[in-house]
Amino acid sequence: MSVYPVVLSQTTFTHRDNLTYPFEERGLQFGDGIYEVIRVYNGRCYLLHEHIDRLFRSADAIKLALPFSKQDIIHLLQELLEKNDMANDGIIYLQATRGSARRTHAFPKGDVQANVYAYVQDLPRNLENLTNGVCAITYPDVRWEYCYIKSLNLLPNVLAKQAASEKGCYEAILHKDGEVTECSSANVFMVKSGKIYTFPATKRILHGCVRMRVKAFSQELSIPFIENSFTLEDISHADEIFLSSTTSEIMPVIRVDQTQIGDGSPGPITRKLQKAYEQDANITEKTIEQLS
Ligand code: PDD
Repeated sequence: MSVYPVVLSQTTFTHRDNLTYPFEERGLQFGDGIYEVIRVYNGRCYLLHEHIDRLFRSADAIKLALPFSKQDIIHLLQELLEKNDMANDGIIYLQATRGSARRTHAFPKGDVQANVYAYVQDLPRNLENLTNGVCAITYPDVRWEYCYIKSLNLLPNVLAKQAASEKGCYEAILHKDGEVTECSSANVFMVKSGKIYTFPATKRILHGCVRMRVKAFSQELSIPFIENSFTLEDISHADEIFLSSTTSEIMPVIRVDQTQIGDGSPGPITRKLQKAYEQDANITEKTIEQLS
C-alpha cells in the first residue's frame, strides 16, 4: 500500500490520510488528463523511460504543459519508491490533469497548473493466469480515433472489461466491424503458422510499452512480427492468442467466446515470449518456466 503518495505538482509527499482533492478538477469533471501505469519488480521500475516518454507524448497530444522535465519525474518516482520502502512487486500509478479550475469546457485561463500525482501499490505477478492462460470475450470497439493517447477517458474500456468480467473472462478483445484492434487494457496478438500478427501502431490503439518489447523479442527470436490487423474470423483459426500489458505481462489466451484456441493450453511461441520477458525484466525466481 502506498502510504506516501506524491503530489508531484508541488513536489511534496503527503500521507494518504491527509490527501485532499478539489471537486472542481479537470480530470474528475472532464477526464481531461492522462496517466501511466508502470510495473515494479522487487522495488525496481521496468520500462520506466518508455512510460515517461509516452507520458510526454500523451501530454503533447492534449496540449497539456507538464511542469517537470522527464528527469525530474524519474527522480521523484525513485524517491516515491524509497519513501514507501517498496521492495516488492507492484505498480506506480501516475496521473496528470489540466488542473483545478471553475468548470468550463475550454482550457482554463490564467495560471492554472497541471495536477500531477503518483502512488505505489503492491501487485504480485498473476502466476496462475500466466501459467494456465485466460479466456476472453469479443466486444465492439466504440472508442474515439485517438486511442494512442493514454487518456483518463476510459468509460468504453470500463464497460468492455465489465462485460468480460460478467462472463467470467479476463479481458475483452475489441473489434471494429470484425477487425481486431486491442483489448480494454492490453494489446492483443495472434499467432498463425509461426508468425505473430497485431494491429499496427497507428492512432487507433495504445502503443503499449510491453507491445514494443514483444516486437523486439520476436525479432531476437527470429519470429516474423507482422503489424497487420486480423479479424474475428481469423481468431477461430488461430494457433495462439496472447495479450500484452504492464499488469498482464505476456498473457496466454486459451478461449475466445466459445472458441478454444489451439489445443486449449498456452502455445510454444507465447511461452518463448514469456521467457524473454522474464529475462528482460530480470525475474529469476518463480519463473513461468519453473512453474509450467
Ligand atoms: N493499460 N491498450 C490499452 C487500452 C491499455 O490500457 C494498455 C495498458 C495497453 C498496454 O500498454 P502497456 O504495455 O504500456 O501497459 C494497451 C494499463 C496497464 C492500465 O490501464 O491499467
